Amino acid sequence: MKNVVLTGIKPTGAIHLGNYFGAIKPIIQLSNQIDNEVNCFVADLHALNLIKDPNQLKLYTRELVASLLALGLSERSRVYLQSHIPQISELATLLMPYTSKGILNRAHAYKAKVETNLKKGRDVDFAVNMGLFTYPVLMAADILLFDGDSVPIGKDQIQHIEICRNIAESVNFSSNKTLFTLPKFSVDESVSTIIGTDGRKMSKSYHNTIALFSSEKQFRKAIFAIKTDAKGRNEAKDPENCTVFHLFRHFASEEQTRDMRQQYLNGISYGEAKQELFELANDYMGEPRKRFKHLMENQGKIDEILEKNQLVMIKVAKKKLEAVKPSMGLR
Ligand code: ADP
Ligand code: TRP
Repeated sequence: MKNVVLTGIKPTGAIHLGNYFGAIKPIIQLSNQIDNEVNCFVADLHALNLIKDPNQLKLYTRELVASLLALGLSERSRVYLQSHIPQISELATLLMPYTSKGILNRAHAYKAKVETNLKKGRDVDFAVNMGLFTYPVLMAADILLFDGDSVPIGKDQIQHIEICRNIAESVNFSSNKTLFTLPKFSVDESVSTIIGTDGRKMSKSYHNTIALFSSEKQFRKAIFAIKTDAKGRNEAKDPENCTVFHLFRHFASEEQTRDMRQQYLNGISYGEAKQELFELANDYMGEPRKRFKHLMENQGKIDEILEKNQLVMIKVAKKKLEAVKPSMGLR
C-alpha cells in the first residue's frame, strides 16, 4: 500500500530560496521515494484571498507549476490546481455547518489580522475577507476529499490540521461512521528557516528574498545585496552568524561547508564569500533554470499535465462526495 502524501502551496509570489528549501525541496524528496504517492496542488483559491490582480495570479500559478516540475517533482506525482477540482469547493460548503465559528475566530491568520487592527485603532474587520476567515474550512476540504495519510506542512500550519481533524470528527460523529480519515501532519524538523538578505526570515512580506528563477544577473545582484557585518579582508569571521554562510551550506556538500567554514576563520572577504555562494547556487540552478524556461515558454505542456491530473483527481473526488452526501442526509 502506498502512503498518500498530500500538500498545497499558495501561488502568491515569485518562488524564493525560503520556499524552495522550506517547502518545495522536501516535497520533491518525498515524491522520489517509491512508497509514496504525492498529490501536490497549487492552492489558487487560497491565493485569491491575497491577490486580486487576475494576470498576477495566473502568472504565479504558472510559475509555481513550472517550478515544481523543473526542480524535479517525480513524474509519478500529481500536480493539480485547486480551482480545477470543483468538488473541493463543494465539500468546503458541506463542511461549513460542521464548523463552529469560535474555532475560526481562533485561527491564527484571522486572529493576527484582528489583533493588528485593534492595535492600530481600526475596525476589527478592516481588510478581513470571508476567504481569510473561512480559510481553514477550505483547507480541510482540500485534505479530507482525498483521504491523505500524511500532510507535510510548516509549523505555522499545525493549527489548521487540528481544525481539519475537529471538522472531520464532527461529520463522522453526526453520520455515525468513519466518513473521513483524520489526517496526520508531518513537520520536517530538519528543515530550517531560511534567512533573507536583511538577516530576518526570508519572506516576500519583508522584501528580502532571493528569487529562485530570476536571471543569472539578478540572482548575483540579490546575493551581493546580503547584509553582513563590517569586518574586512583577512579578519577572522564568524560563519555561524553570517547569512552568506547560512545560504552557502544549503547548497554545499559537507566537504564544501567544512572548507568554507575554514575560509571564514582564515579571513575570506565577504565579497569573495558571496562570489563563491553565487557560483555554487548558480551551478545548482543551471539545469532547473533551463527546464523552467522551457516550461514557461510551452504553456501547452503545463496544461497537458494539469488536465491529465485534473481528470484523475476529479474521479477520486466524485466518488468521495457520493459517499459523503447521502451520509449527511442529502440526496
Ligand atoms: P512568504 O513568507 O514569502 O509569503 P509563504 O508563506 O507563501 O512565503 O510560504 C510558502 C511555503 O514556503 C510555506 O510552506 C513556508 O513554510 C515555506 N517558507 C517560506 N519562507 C520560508 C523560509 N524563510 N524558510 C523556510 N521555509 C519557508
Ligand atoms: N495553508 C497552507 C500554507 O499556507 C497551504 C495549503 C492549502 C495546504 N491547503 C492545504 C497545505 C492542504 C497542506 C494541505 O502553506
